[in-house]
Amino acid sequence: MMSASGASTVGSQAFHLESWSRIRLDQVERALEQWITTETSVEVGHAAPAALVEAMRYSVLDGGKRLRPLLVLAAHEAVAGTPGSAAALRAACAVELIHAYSLVHDDMPCMDNDILRRGKPTVHVRFGEASALLAGDALQALAFELLTPEDASVDGVTQARLCNLLARAAGSAGMAGGQAIDLASVGHTLTEDELREMHQLKTGALLQGSVLMGAHCGQPDSVALTALRDYGAAIGLAFQVVDDILDVTADSSTLGKTAGKDADNDKPTYVSLMGLARSQTYAQDLLAQAQQALQRSGLKNTLALAALADMVVNRAN
Ligand code: IPE
Ligand code: IPE
Ligand code: MG
Ligand code: MG
Ligand code: MG
Repeated sequence: MMSASGASTVGSQAFHLESWSRIRLDQVERALEQWITTETSVEVGHAAPAALVEAMRYSVLDGGKRLRPLLVLAAHEAVAGTPGSAAALRAACAVELIHAYSLVHDDMPCMDNDILRRGKPTVHVRFGEASALLAGDALQALAFELLTPEDASVDGVTQARLCNLLARAAGSAGMAGGQAIDLASVGHTLTEDELREMHQLKTGALLQGSVLMGAHCGQPDSVALTALRDYGAAIGLAFQVVDDILDVTADSSTLGKTAGKDADNDKPTYVSLMGLARSQTYAQDLLAQAQQALQRSGLKNTLALAALADMVVNRAN
């Protein structure tokens, strides 16, 4: 359970997620700030256009819960036993760049047509549609650039595995595929299986990918890897179930995005399919599944992952 102070009790051990997160969020912010610059392409002899980089920085910096980077770092620490790894920090930032790009495109008029994101005007409102499209494209490319540093800080095998995991999570059988199903489903009633599949792809894949990328920055054994895959699947789906719930129960200022948008856009959601109470119960069931997966992982250092799962399901925004 999560208390108001952010402390959660997992088994008999107390864990303070806020304190654990603070230093890691600080590292992630500093790294993102440093990596999204006009000098991004300096190694190939060109500087990036300032206006494009401004739209990219606007999309990424100063906002968001940074859940995906925290999952990468927590999974790495669970497997490696210690914090701090060049690969894990790069993976954490790369996943956040893909997530930010997905939000920029998700908000565009051709998709959800939203004007508010992270408490600010959406990127296409602020910079125009073409710039939003290109900022998303460039953030996606930058994510893979971060995973393939030219120095020796991340070995080649790890680079390739991280790129593979991120590409799969973001691509046609992951986030982009789920977004395609989402758009094709407007105005339709989906079965529970269809809705689950859509949510697993559009949101679950990148969250599960975050966990697996973090794990692969260490050296997970097969028991741990299977358990972390199950943990990632459970919280990935739970995250979108709760997003559907919050769209109905929270207000726009709490969310930093327009509340009530799913019903306005005639989107199939867990709330529209099974109602609020059953959706809330389902989210708690998924949380229990995630915690059980951690228990069978054989890993000792899972308190941060457990607290993040709790946060996914019991969050206010
Ligand atoms: C919103 O994600 C989009 C979904 C996948 C539901 P988040 O709720 O993680 O957004 P930020 O990063 O905190 O803004
Ligand atoms: C978005 O789902 C999932 C993404 C891949 C971005 P939503 O459309 O429900 O996300 P919000 O509610 O706009 O953040
Ligand atoms: Mg959407
Ligand atoms: Mg949306
Ligand atoms: Mg939503």
